[in-house]
Amino acid sequence: MAEIRQKPQIVSEATEAQIAVHWREEEYYYPSAKFIGQANLTDPDVIERFSEKNFPECFREYADLLSWDKYWDTTLDTSDPPFWKWFVGGKINASYNCVDRHLANYKNKAALIFVPEPESEAPVAVTYRELYVRVNEFAALLRDFCGLKAGDRVTIHMPMVPELPITMLACARLGVVHSVVFGGFSGEACGTRAADSQSQVLITMDGYYRYGKLLDHKAGADIALEIAKKEGQTVDKVLVWRRHAGQNASATPFVKGRDFFVDEVLTKYKGQLVAPVPMDAEAPLFLMYTSGSTGKPKGCQHRTGGYLAYVTGTSKYIQDIHPEDVYWCMADIGWITGHSYIVYGPLALAATSVMYEGVPTYPDAGRVWRIAERLDVNIFHTSPTAIRMLRKSGHDEPDKYNYHFKHMTTVGEPIEPEVWRWYHETVGKGEAVIVDTWWQTENGGFLCSTKPALDPMKPGSAGPGMPGIYPVIIDENNQEVAAGSGKAGNICIRNPWPGIMQTIWGSHDRFVAQYYAKYCKNRNSKDWRDWPYFAADGAVLAADGYFRILGRVDDVINVAGHRLGTKEIESACLTVSEVAEAAVVPVADEIKGRVPEVYIALKPGVQPSQAIIDKVNKVIETMIGKIARPKHVHIVPDMPKTRSGKLMRRVLAALSNNMNTGDITTLANPDVVENIRELVQGKEAVALTDGPEDLKRFGTEE
Ligand code: PRX
Repeated sequence: MAEIRQKPQIVSEATEAQIAVHWREEEYYYPSAKFIGQANLTDPDVIERFSEKNFPECFREYADLLSWDKYWDTTLDTSDPPFWKWFVGGKINASYNCVDRHLANYKNKAALIFVPEPESEAPVAVTYRELYVRVNEFAALLRDFCGLKAGDRVTIHMPMVPELPITMLACARLGVVHSVVFGGFSGEACGTRAADSQSQVLITMDGYYRYGKLLDHKAGADIALEIAKKEGQTVDKVLVWRRHAGQNASATPFVKGRDFFVDEVLTKYKGQLVAPVPMDAEAPLFLMYTSGSTGKPKGCQHRTGGYLAYVTGTSKYIQDIHPEDVYWCMADIGWITGHSYIVYGPLALAATSVMYEGVPTYPDAGRVWRIAERLDVNIFHTSPTAIRMLRKSGHDEPDKYNYHFKHMTTVGEPIEPEVWRWYHETVGKGEAVIVDTWWQTENGGFLCSTKPALDPMKPGSAGPGMPGIYPVIIDENNQEVAAGSGKAGNICIRNPWPGIMQTIWGSHDRFVAQYYAKYCKNRNSKDWRDWPYFAADGAVLAADGYFRILGRVDDVINVAGHRLGTKEIESACLTVSEVAEAAVVPVADEIKGRVPEVYIALKPGVQPSQAIIDKVNKVIETMIGKIARPKHVHIVPDMPKTRSGKLMRRVLAALSNNMNTGDITTLANPDVVENIRELVQGKEAVALTDGPEDLKRFGTEE
């Protein structure tokens, strides 16, 4: 309820269990008979097959979609909770499953179609045969030129080009653990991750296109190496792919004996074949760094067999991928969505996976739909941020293009029902079925979603737990929240599943503390039922069994569907010499969902200035990347604090979002709140709201 506020409001703090969420129940939408007629999953028995009484053996169904070098003995080993082991005793190679095994039937079919950002450059198709040749040659280079072997880690900092999945699959062929760092992250961010994973090789690219400009990407590698070195890790080889044959988009000089153009080294490995190494099902396949509650990103370690089985099963049944489909997921491979649903899942199913290099609205709002029309894409996958952006920049653009999607996905953030309806009616032309898939970097694949041919869609709700996934909402008093109660709580998964990460790289204690400590019923128990997985998302369960995700309950901000830790941004701010204290809070944004907003207090005697604000913006960009750019940087006279000196981010988040500030009487310096309010909102009173759930909860656990 909006109200006009004269001065900071004092309302009592609601506990999580008391937060009741009211929204209009949305009407169901149903899949068309045409979609159902061709769908991979139409048998309602799936619910029974994947029910608890058939757990964990139900997941054989997913693993049996793969080609195993050696079949496994034990489906799930729970002897060391919560370090679950899947398909134990099995041997498998991910590269073989995504490439070699398709040669018999699909060697001339496009595995990847690369769409360059400049429209003057034609799309490039890479057939399964060509992918096989290129993966083998690059694997030979990694093995013989770099000396890499199973278990070694390699950091990959690359844009959206076919050489990225080629590099990943070449690593997987050897059992080398890849750690792909999002290309948009800064060199510094890449360096910290390279150090944490102890990578000796960095694979990068000279440049790529964004907004029509050819960017110098390799420059970041030099910074990454410097940072990694500072953190104790020497990277001794940098392999540089070229965006244009025979050219160099980067102005940074090559370091002799360290930096190599891939194409030059590759001449020695032309036509070489490398036998895929049969890996233990439990051998790590890759690391994917993500933000958490500390300043340091954590490396989510994913296993080979379970992960591949889970993404293949969910790609087949939820993405409804058939080999004849042209599937386009607009995510970046540098995020988990790209790993699971551009590379591993679709390629394991012999699909054609489209990769687009650039900005969806470049050079105009029709670009995405032109690509869809030209390539005859029939499965489309993107985030609410992209949907909001496309809707804003070209509401009626899709009508102008003759493409037809049978299936569309939304992932990464809650989607507003209104935006969902535009996606359905305008983008999907009323024909496409939509799945709203809820999951996380840690999870490997989808956790909640409708089964596209079996369940009706409900705008704004992710849907029920996936087959074999048993979600539950638990409140702060450890009580299960009943379906249909309208109460919010923490969504947890009661059981292990094959896609769940193995651990945090090098930090097993943190893994247990972060995901299992909160609701573990008995630390000594070997029964998985005692170890619910805590997802750190708030959610509500409707009477029909559909989950509506409300957002993060920790200090992670979901910016445009990507995770940023407030502590990481705060640490960056504190490197500016004038800054004494920093606090980062999420602020609602029409397009990106949430964006960070920065509050800083200066050291004694330092005068506030635009120059300091510029410095803060700059340091965030260099230490993390443009994605973390704050909406505003506010210089405040003092931070709101409790009497024990704790910084109250909750109050700042309320001010940034025109929300009620809650109880501020316990603060050591309540007067500063009004000062900051004026600074942020202006002198005039503004309309206040209670705010959405995630913002309401932000900072309440501090
Ligand atoms: O808050 C949830 C939100 O994104 C977070 C996970 O982010 P990340 O690990 O980067 O993975 C994103 C892609 C899988 C979650 O904790 N989230 C993800 N999917 C949804 C979502 N929120 C609402 N609805 C979704 N479908």
